[in-house]
Amino acid sequence: MAKIGIALSVLTVLLVITSAQQAPGDLNGNWVAHNVNTTEGTVRSSYFNLKYEAGKITGTIRTTQFFYTIKESTGGPEGFTIIAAMPDGHTERRVQYEGKLVGDELRIGRRARPDAPLTEMIAKRAPAGEGLLPARIDPPARHKVPYNGLAKTPPMGWNSWNKFAGRVDDATVRAIADAMASNGMKDAGYVYVNIDDTWETGRAANGEIQTNKKFPDMKALADYVHKKGLKLGIYSSPGPNTCAGYEGSYGHEEQDARTFAKWGIDYLKYDWCGARTLYTDEEMPAIYQKMGDALLKTGRPIVYSLCQYGRFDVWKWGPEVGGNLWRTTGDIRDTWDSMANIGFRQHELAQYAKPGHWNDPDMLEIGNGAMTDTEYKTHMSLWAMLAAPLLAGNDLRKMAPETLAILTNRDVIAVDQDRFGKQGSRAWQSGEQEVWTRQLSGNDIAVAFFNRSRDEAKITVKWADLGAPTKRKARDLWLHQNVDVSAPEYSATVAGHGVVMLRISK
Ligand code: GLA
Repeated sequence: MAKIGIALSVLTVLLVITSAQQAPGDLNGNWVAHNVNTTEGTVRSSYFNLKYEAGKITGTIRTTQFFYTIKESTGGPEGFTIIAAMPDGHTERRVQYEGKLVGDELRIGRRARPDAPLTEMIAKRAPAGEGLLPARIDPPARHKVPYNGLAKTPPMGWNSWNKFAGRVDDATVRAIADAMASNGMKDAGYVYVNIDDTWETGRAANGEIQTNKKFPDMKALADYVHKKGLKLGIYSSPGPNTCAGYEGSYGHEEQDARTFAKWGIDYLKYDWCGARTLYTDEEMPAIYQKMGDALLKTGRPIVYSLCQYGRFDVWKWGPEVGGNLWRTTGDIRDTWDSMANIGFRQHELAQYAKPGHWNDPDMLEIGNGAMTDTEYKTHMSLWAMLAAPLLAGNDLRKMAPETLAILTNRDVIAVDQDRFGKQGSRAWQSGEQEVWTRQLSGNDIAVAFFNRSRDEAKITVKWADLGAPTKRKARDLWLHQNVDVSAPEYSATVAGHGVVMLRISK
């Protein structure tokens, strides 16, 4: 009898423990929702590690590259709202989730806008500890990474992100390489075919990073691109995850650099994103140095492109960490405002560009459709004045002849690629009209008359003010004809959002 009594009470205790941990209606614990992408064969997971006590929800939320701490909550298992935050450089990122328990499922989601419908996911219980951020690896001591000898002029090529984002795959990259090799772009100097984010999946047992189903054989793809006389670029992040939430190089820097070299990769864009949960902006140089060292150590020439949106004055330390170029801004979009706001803001960075090391105001949007050809000409001209990398971001397989003509304007490309590598800057401004100049080799000067207003404008300059030689000739780089500049003053009539670009020589 006594034995039965003990057995029963043990059972009761067990039942109580089990129900305390798992009973429906109990919010406590780790929850996971998996989002499967069948085209890629990838899974992205969101973890909600929750504690519900005295009417308050606390804990953490991990949505791939973002790791938030819950700051505020209202409600309980039957319906709640939580606000969570994470540090991001010197600012903070905040998210709001709404959720409820239904049986033993956590239905939880976010709204794009307060009045938008909830995009809900279904989270199930996950083992404690799963989905936590990996432990922090302290940044290495700083030292100078030797220059790799590459990018003597700003890199030219193509990148998948602006047009394709997550829809880039092997077949598309091959077709882009075919187009670039045969449509005149290669002859005009475009060489890099760069795969941006979303090619990755997890790691093999030996730690080697794996491509997802969209890229069945990266080495074969590199061979294909190389046979066309072009080069292949790839993308990764110093964090555990990339911006789009794919596998990053965190803790595998040397191994990934070796893998990239083995595949035949010629260019790496290394994107901060997932690293912001582990490191401060002040630690960025040391973290970028790590990959700079790793790339050099492979012995393969690999252009190193830093992408951290111009934070922590990257132009001051980019070269020291082995960077050939560094993004100076957030992401460009295919609009006049985005392009103009980025491009015309680069004025003060001119002194930091030099052969081997370039400011990168982001990739081109030319041909993506939301700007006019006049505006795309301004985009191309401004990037050339800025000695910016020229990475086309459109679908090269099918583009209008006007787009191709803008991208392959050799006179403008010659300005961009000038071997002096001196970035241009604003020489004159009045309201929405600006004149930029760029010192070129052979004592030539590029002069661009920009009209940022919607209406046509007449811009008048005195050559002496622009440092032009007294005896001079000029060529219009869009009309491809000589221009009479013998008078001390010159007036250009410039279309709304347009440009007149001249090359002045003795
Ligand atoms: C960031 C970068 C973009 C692109 C995406 C990919 O936003 O700035 O250029 O690489 O990540 O996820």
